[in-house]
Amino acid sequence: MATFRLTVSPSLTTTLPRQNHPTTTPALHLNPKRHRLASSAIVHSYKVVIEHRGESRELEVDPDETILSKALDSGLLIPHDCKLGVCMTCPARLLTGSVDQSEGMLSDDVVERGYALLCASYPRSDCHIRTIPEDELLSLQLATAND
Ligand code: FES
Repeated sequence: MATFRLTVSPSLTTTLPRQNHPTTTPALHLNPKRHRLASSAIVHSYKVVIEHRGESRELEVDPDETILSKALDSGLLIPHDCKLGVCMTCPARLLTGSVDQSEGMLSDDVVERGYALLCASYPRSDCHIRTIPEDELLSLQLATAND
């Protein structure tokens, strides 16, 4: 059977059977799973320095894992409960860097002031983070909720 070569991008090439009817467009039989793997093969973890109760630890955190999860895996005993960004038991101050915490319940004002919930924080750059007392975040969150 005659074939022709289809190149979508330099790294994405497939060979398709040639159709007998020259006016018929050949069906694409691309393997989406293989192509998704090719495009997401580069997973970049971030360096996250976390200070907790006088102890400082440097972690390598993947962009699809929470900082709390990695910290607990590394043996840091950080208070937590729901792991859903709701109970506010895992508050921290983001000293440098950025995180995606769009799944958490903090108000935008509090997030803009550099606060984060570690269970809902996915690193988006190298970060330096310090855990804080729960009361500090609760008072801020309640103050902005009353505005
Ligand atoms: S553990 Fe509940 S908000 Fe983080």
